[in-house]
Amino acid sequence: MSKGTRSIKIAILGLGVVGNGVLETLTYKKNAFKDQFASELDVSYILVKDLNKPRELYSSNALITDDYERILSDDSVDIVVEVMGGDQPAFDYIKRAMENGKSVVTANKEVISKHGQELMSIASINGVHLLFEASVGGGIPIIRPLSKDLNANDVDAIRSIINGTTNYILTNMTYMGSTFAEALDEAQTLGYAESDPTNDVEGIDAVYKLSIMASLAFRSQILPQDVYREGISNLTANDFKYAKELGYVIKLMAIAKRQDSEIDIRVHPSLLPEEAPLAKVNGVYNAIQVHGDLVGHVLFHGQGAGGNATASAVVGDIIDVSGDLVRNANPVSYIWNGKESSIRSIAELVSRYYIRLTVEDRPGVMAKLTDVLGSKAISIASIIQKESDTSLNSAELVITTHPSKEADVQDALNDISELDVVKSIGSIIRIESGSAD
Ligand code: NAP
Ligand code: HSE
Repeated sequence: MSKGTRSIKIAILGLGVVGNGVLETLTYKKNAFKDQFASELDVSYILVKDLNKPRELYSSNALITDDYERILSDDSVDIVVEVMGGDQPAFDYIKRAMENGKSVVTANKEVISKHGQELMSIASINGVHLLFEASVGGGIPIIRPLSKDLNANDVDAIRSIINGTTNYILTNMTYMGSTFAEALDEAQTLGYAESDPTNDVEGIDAVYKLSIMASLAFRSQILPQDVYREGISNLTANDFKYAKELGYVIKLMAIAKRQDSEIDIRVHPSLLPEEAPLAKVNGVYNAIQVHGDLVGHVLFHGQGAGGNATASAVVGDIIDVSGDLVRNANPVSYIWNGKESSIRSIAELVSRYYIRLTVEDRPGVMAKLTDVLGSKAISIASIIQKESDTSLNSAELVITTHPSKEADVQDALNDISELDVVKSIGSIIRIESGSAD
């Protein structure tokens, strides 16, 4: 080792999509990092579940093991990089690493979302780092901006697309005519999906990420169960077709807004006007719009998943921690204040709605529907009869509303579903305005 450099010993927990990206980056850029950052980043251990799985190790000298205790008891390990995923044993491993004086870098949004506050307090008590830039937005820098660069602001809104898998699926269904199954299969092959893709498709992954961003931005404790959630699995090909005809695209939106003393926080499919900036975020790309009182609107955009993009964020954190270790500097922890927040019920939401339903194709149907909507003070913006199936005597209707209260819309839909002329209610999708406000 040359004069003035220090060797930093690293253990990587997990050698999947992200673990491989991290190992490859640390291996191929080792000399460049040594020159630039005065630290020699050495991977000493790699923890895996299945020792018998065939693997390409990029000429690493690391010991590959399935025994975490061995890593924990090795005092020379400075940084534990957790890229295994899931709540347990990842939470336990992160916690014990810090209690044993090791700094931690993780890409695990589930653990940070559920246990962020506790883990940050353990990091602070033990004087170690806990960094998690890769947990939200893959390669997009967003945790540091929310935790540091935007500190002078009162952040009041986050509007985002933060799941690469669903954005890839929705983009392919919109523009390539792919089926849901084909697009999901491709996203899995490309390494974007979680080990259980239900987490992506049902919006659970986006809930974890949104709760982390909102906790940091609003300086409140927001847990996954606080976030209203709907996934994309109930959308049909017709919804994409009708959305296009109406001038919209469908996106899985993750939205958090501070309104008075309450927080409106939700993940669900939305119709976005085609010309809106977020409507143009396609494929595996993610984007996060943040509004602060001083800065106004800022937009973060980039690849939200994949081995290299995620390794960019993980290795950035490793370099950050190493720099502090080399300089003997104290870790600076992010503020994750334990304040309880009051969550606004989805029933209180005021939004425009797209409603697709199948009705009998006969006179008087429209009158019955408009009667119900009118009785709940829901104003119709457009109503279009889409397709008739003469053999079944049925037609598909697409209704869009002016801004209405969610509770009223749900009440009206209950009443509508009981009408003798209504065969089924298909999709109900909230319509977002294109503006960032
Ligand atoms: P992955 O491809 O499924 O890899 C998981 C790795 O962890 C595998 O090597 C597995 O070992 C190992 N592992 C799992 N459970 C273990 C256990 N109990 N003990 C030891 N090793 C264990 O996952 P990934 O896509 O790389 O994701 C890793 C983390 O990064 C997750 O938290 C994920 O949410 C996050 N993330 C992923 C992406 C992405 O684009 N994929 C982007 C941002 C963040 P075996 O190889 O032996 O099975
Ligand atoms: N499965 C996640 C996604 C990985 O598709 O966005 C990145 O966190």
